[in-house]
Formats: sequence, structure tokens, C-alpha cells
Amino acid sequence: MKELIRKFTDFYGIPPVIAAAAPGRLEVLGNHTDYNEGFVLSCAVGQTTKFVLAPAEGTLCKVKDFRDGTEMSFDLDSLDRKPPRNGSKYIIGMLSELRKRGFEPFAFTAGLQSDVPLSAGMSSSAALEVSCALAFTGLKNFAISRAELARAGQGVENNFLGLKTGLLDQFSSLFGEKDSIIMSDFRKVEVIDTLKLPAGYAFVVINSMKKHTLVDSDYNVRREDCENAAKILSGIYENSRTLRDITPEQLENAKDKLSEREYLRAKHVVCECDRVKKAASLLKNGDVSGFGQLLFDSHESSRKNFENSTSELDILVDIARKDGECLGARLSGGGFGGITIHLVKADAAEAYAERVKSEYFKQTAVEAEVFICSLGAGAEAQLLK
Ligand code: GLA
Repeated sequence: MKELIRKFTDFYGIPPVIAAAAPGRLEVLGNHTDYNEGFVLSCAVGQTTKFVLAPAEGTLCKVKDFRDGTEMSFDLDSLDRKPPRNGSKYIIGMLSELRKRGFEPFAFTAGLQSDVPLSAGMSSSAALEVSCALAFTGLKNFAISRAELARAGQGVENNFLGLKTGLLDQFSSLFGEKDSIIMSDFRKVEVIDTLKLPAGYAFVVINSMKKHTLVDSDYNVRREDCENAAKILSGIYENSRTLRDITPEQLENAKDKLSEREYLRAKHVVCECDRVKKAASLLKNGDVSGFGQLLFDSHESSRKNFENSTSELDILVDIARKDGECLGARLSGGGFGGITIHLVKADAAEAYAERVKSEYFKQTAVEAEVFICSLGAGAEAQLLK
């Protein structure tokens, strides 16, 4: 943070008055369960987006991105216009969402820095939304709960950018706890348990470096399929509202009432919720290999039922399956490209990552990006003296 404060001060000639940092996140288990009001295991990572600012006169807001030196600016009067193409869309979107919640946007100069990889499935956009939101609201001492801040971030994606995502990304960035995996219930919108990864294990993140071009619409279509299935099932099972309320047995018994596609999508979500609950109890009992197997099972269900995997993600998970060192691996996040997470012994992580990278290159001629992730703390803001 010191470095960003120094760069800001050199660039604008004044020091910032508030500094915020928000981590990226890993979806450990619980794929596409959040918007079905289900359960997810996730963690914040050590990589963060840092956002510092000083208030300014007038209505012009300036943001200097110290990653690549870009300068972005926008006027407070233009918050409702079509989102620009650059990263300022997340900041503009957040101001507009906060305004809906009674916050009065003000002009500012800001600086940002981040080591959360962009567009990889580690929620770089949520980290930016959360860090700027904490800086804005922290400076004005604006009272808003963390759950509501997560909803504001989701609002940026849903209302401003047209991506019908759930709450997982912003929620994990805000509620992550150091060295822990959080178990969240997205009906209650609460952390219901905090779990430890047994000592000596780590997550290796391997980016497939491939992304579908139609990611956004694919995501929205999956959500629609789930909601259609839930609607039909709620007509059969009294008291059920979303896929979270359905058991695997109930789904099987109602299979002929759903289209093949709705059934497969629902199966993924219903069984993911189950896997999350099983995984939590396995972790509590220190059963790392049982937990790892559930990661493999989740990937298989993504591949077969939810169809949000890609051939590159499948190659990475296959390499993991054949490597004696890996206890479990799966695609993590929305899917359709992006990252896989691999559970391995911490002291073998680097060698493992190199092996997978080189095997992946052999099979695809693509250089994968690799991160060994620490489980970081949740987002924070701090007024500077
Ligand atoms: C993306 C979305 C989240 C969640 C995951 C899939 O990361 O932003 O809300 O739906 O995909 O679990």
C-alpha cells in the first residue's frame, strides 16, 4: 500500500486520504450455486486490488491505474450513461449502485494498483468494485452493511454490465478470513461456517488462458435454465422455491417433468449443494483426500451436466487426475474458460505446478499462468493521517 500512496502523491501532488484493499477470491466448491440460494465454500486470496483517493472540487473524477499507467476520467453527471469500455465502468457502476442506497457521490482523484489476475476467474472486477466501495463509503462514514455492499457490487454486474451473476465474488472478497475457507449460505447471505484447510496443503491455481467469446450470454442462459427448472419443481414440491430446496432424490423423481437440459443443469446445482455440505464435514474431520475427491466430482459434473467446462479446462483436470500428487482439481468460477484449482501438499506445490504447466504446453501449445495461492483476509479500508 505504501508504494501506491507514494505513487499517488507523486502523480497528483497531494496525498490520498483513504486507502482500501480488496482481495480476489477462489471458488473452492459450490459451482453456480450462489444465485440458486445455495451453499459455497470459498476463500479470499493473497492477491488484492488497492484503491486510494482524495476528494476533489467540482464533478470530475479521475483514476490513475498504476498497473499500466492508464488515466481514466468521468463526470459525476454521467453516472447513468452507457458504461465505458475501460475499467472505470466498475467504479462508475459502483457509484451509481451506492447512490441508489442513499449515498451521495462526490468528485475525487484516485489511484489503483492490483495483482489480481485480470479476467482469469479470480474476480478481479469484484475486487475493484469492493475496494472502491469501501474507500467511498469509508471516507463519508456512510453506514452500509457488508452484505449490502456485496449486493451493490452484484448490482454493478447485473444492472450496469448485464451479467446476471450471483453474490459470491463480492461476498468472498468482503467476508474472506485469513487462512480460512468460508462456507456461505446465499439464502441467508451469511457466512455459516469457517473451515481450515488441513496444515501443509495449498491450492495451486492454473489458468487455462482460454476464454469463450460468448461467456456472458452463456452464463445468463445457465442461470435462466436453473430458474426455469426451479419454477417447475416448485409446482411439484410444496415449500420449494429455488434449486437449493431440492434433494437429489426429489430431482430424480421429477426428472420427466423437466427438459433434458433443465434436468442436467438442476442436477449439477442440487448435487453441488450436497457436495459442499459433505466437504465441510470432511474438512472438519481432516479428511483431505475425501475432500479432494469432491473437487474432482464437481468438475466432472461441470463437464457432463452443467456444460460450463472447456477442452482446455478438462485437459488441466485430467493432468491433475493422472498426477499422484494432486488430491483434487476442478474448474473454479463461472467456467467457459478461466482457471482450475488444484489441491496439493504445500511443499510439493511448486514442482507440481511446473509439471502441469509443461504437460499442458505439450498438449495445447499454450503457456498456462500459475499461482500458488495463500488464503487471504477480507477487504478493509483505512483513513490515512
Ligand atoms: C461467477 C459469478 C458468481 C458465481 C460463479 C459460479 O464467478 O460471478 O456469482 O455464480 O461464477 O459459481
